[in-house]
Amino acid sequence: SEPAPPHQQANSLWTSRMAFILAAVGSAVGLGNIWKFPYITGENGGGAFVLVYLACIFLIGLPVLIAETLIGRRGGQSPVATMRTLTRTEGASKGWRIIGWNGVFAASLVLSFYAVIGGWALVYVGKAAFGLFVGADAETVGAQFDTLLSNPWELLLWHTAFMVIVVFIVARGIRAGLEKAVKMLMPLLFVLLIVMVLYAMTSGSFGRAVDFMFSPDFSRLTTEGVLVALGHAAFTLSVGIGTLMAYGSYLPKHINIARTSVSIAVMDTCVALLAGLAIFPLVFANGLEADAGPGLIFVTLPLAFGQMSGGLIFGTLFFALLLVAAITSAISMLEPVVEWLEERKGTTRVKSAMTGGFAVWLVGIGTVLSFNLWSNIYPLGFIGFFEGKTVFELIDFLASNILMPLGGLAIVLFVGWAVRREGLAEDIGLQGGLFRAFMVVLKFVTPAGIAVVFLYNLI
Ligand code: PFF
Ligand code: NA
Repeated sequence: SEPAPPHQQANSLWTSRMAFILAAVGSAVGLGNIWKFPYITGENGGGAFVLVYLACIFLIGLPVLIAETLIGRRGGQSPVATMRTLTRTEGASKGWRIIGWNGVFAASLVLSFYAVIGGWALVYVGKAAFGLFVGADAETVGAQFDTLLSNPWELLLWHTAFMVIVVFIVARGIRAGLEKAVKMLMPLLFVLLIVMVLYAMTSGSFGRAVDFMFSPDFSRLTTEGVLVALGHAAFTLSVGIGTLMAYGSYLPKHINIARTSVSIAVMDTCVALLAGLAIFPLVFANGLEADAGPGLIFVTLPLAFGQMSGGLIFGTLFFALLLVAAITSAISMLEPVVEWLEERKGTTRVKSAMTGGFAVWLVGIGTVLSFNLWSNIYPLGFIGFFEGKTVFELIDFLASNILMPLGGLAIVLFVGWAVRREGLAEDIGLQGGLFRAFMVVLKFVTPAGIAVVFLYNLI
């Protein structure tokens, strides 16, 4: 038989199932849960959107998560090389290699705007620590946020700082520090979120928030909202663009992929729902708008920190943890790009990280300007799909709502239809009827779900 692929050599594997879960959860839990989920839920009318999102997580995101990790472990290399090897060893068409390329491209696009928002988290650590929120009212915190966005140089500074941190970590090799950081900080973030929810319960608007998030009113959900829910299910689990393929390539053979994937999806979902329950009560209690957009958490949370006792320490800690969560996600996005550059150009890891990081940083300037000088510029606005979208919104929409779900579609189709059936049940970690049911989901249910959402939106 063939020798084990590079990442499957004994000395490069994850040290335990826990180590892999931590890295995958580090990638999954990020700005998507705490920044994006609440604001898109607000923009898309609440309950019905959340319901569709949850359905997408379990019927679409989770199967993609399992399939992508499996591909990564079977290939044992970077996403591009893994797909090259697997199309050969599984006897599948070379066309499937597009999965690897799509990953490199889409991950770079996501990172380009993610780093800008990561920069906001970075500034907000400082603002909280210097007591800028103490006793502040809604108007003051709103003005602070608007002032930040209106200054392209300041945004660029923080965006750059965030990118430098990410490049630095990736250049040093991600696995060493990653396990430790995630192991300590993720549970802490979880605890802090629960404390925030408890605080939000005292705001007087908790019932209204629960109602907003969990009683579905389908008249408020558009077809684009369904596409956003699907895209976010992929975004929040980090699936469809090779991240988990890269992490899965280091996964030891004996670990049960199905069970591990369920844990990851459940944890990620809990964090998102907790974030919503922490934020919406404050939105309603302070007369803010649920559909305020990307600034939502940056105006509601500072209000809470400004009014609660111990808010200075608490707020600083919270934004610091948000920053860490953003960093552990961002490094997972740069990883496919860097592995590809390393392999293709034969350059060192350090150089690849710097080149990749620089290219992504350049694209990110478009997002920086979207919040000020270019706030009225809608490139590609003449195409119906992209109407009224700034550069930031365009890149987010294209990468998160189109490339990630389509990448996910290709991944489930590849494992469902093209990969050899023998050994697949053991590899996935499911037996008997459960395995057969899962294959039906992989072959038909997930692809049909993605296809239907897309067709609806095109028509
Ligand atoms: N899952 C991350 C979040 O929810 O913040 C974002 C993300 C990470 C998207 C990695 C894509 C990715 F490849
Ligand atoms: Na997430």
